[in-house]
Amino acid sequence: SAAEKGGYDYFMLKEIVEQPRAVADTLLGRVTTDGALHLDEMRLTPEQLRTVEKIVIIACGTSYHAGLIAKYAIEHWCRVPCEVEVASEFRYRDPILDQQTLVIAISQSGESMDTLMAVRYAREQRAQVLAICNVNGSTIPREADGVLYTHAGPEVGVAATKTFLTQLAACYLIGLYLAQVRGLKYGDEINTLIGQLATMPEQVEQVLDTVDPVRKLAHSLADQSTVLFLGRHVGYPVALEGALKLKELAYMHAEAFAAGELKHGPIALIEEGLPVVVVVPSPEGRSVLHDKIVSNIQEVRARGARTIVIAEKGDEAVRPYSDVLIEIPAVPTLLQPIVSTIPMQVFACELALAKGNDVDQPRNLAKSVTVE
Ligand code: AGP
Repeated sequence: SAAEKGGYDYFMLKEIVEQPRAVADTLLGRVTTDGALHLDEMRLTPEQLRTVEKIVIIACGTSYHAGLIAKYAIEHWCRVPCEVEVASEFRYRDPILDQQTLVIAISQSGESMDTLMAVRYAREQRAQVLAICNVNGSTIPREADGVLYTHAGPEVGVAATKTFLTQLAACYLIGLYLAQVRGLKYGDEINTLIGQLATMPEQVEQVLDTVDPVRKLAHSLADQSTVLFLGRHVGYPVALEGALKLKELAYMHAEAFAAGELKHGPIALIEEGLPVVVVVPSPEGRSVLHDKIVSNIQEVRARGARTIVIAEKGDEAVRPYSDVLIEIPAVPTLLQPIVSTIPMQVFACELALAKGNDVDQPRNLAKSVTVE
């Protein structure tokens, strides 16, 4: 009913605006602005976490994208090797697991059969399994050794939005906690980041306050048949997520590439008028990565692409090459996905609405996929 949707036409629209709250609730009691982390509830002791020699993240769809982002953060903060794999591939390739392996299973529903079967397989191989789930008491956390729940509240729309942002928050919490209990290589950075993580709900709010131009843009692109997405570093999984959202909701051909791969093939796809969405890493310290992506934007634009650039506010280097510039708040590079994903969600949702699609119940999809 309209009341359930909080006055919105679709649950998805409501769930997008609930994101500051969802992230805040997921951080609540677990992180404080003075840099302390409280994660005893995970049921994995600091002793257990100190024995971990390898981390393997398994998940599907959007949850897999959260895992890809977690890898950048965990390897950088904790210096523990971390692999990420789609759950449906995992147990069929004889993966190397033992008691020193921490498997992190990310699943909003806690019921995805592919992820559940991967969890069972990992436990048979004696790995420790930690679940990140949104649905209390669902199967995956019940079968795992430990769990960190996201507190996004119920998500009705088939497309994951607020649960994705809270999965990211949970992954960051776990990464920072692991770094803390294992002895810090980047002690100061970790403590500062914990404080910055606690301020993310405000940043999310800020993006939502400024995202309106994305709606107009989406409506103007409703007749396109293809949209490409480019990103680097943590912006690459964000690009993958943007493309997945567009496929699910707008039934459009959408593909994401690591921007550095463009020259290895995909640049041949660029033609006059093709919309290309680019997620730009923070220009913080004028990073090499930032310079490289600015070149990538120039390259696709020179070949006729219409560039839609998501960049940090104040990043003047990208402005001359952006047909549309979407500004997001400046946040630490590794945390940027929490803010850069939001314009992608709004873009896909509005484009789908412009095409007359039901964004809560896209064709052929189910909220939780309980078959393998
Ligand atoms: C996301 O928008 C999709 N509906 C889908 O990819 C989803 O993330 C995937 O099926 C995994 O679901 P889970 O997180 O409940 O395991």
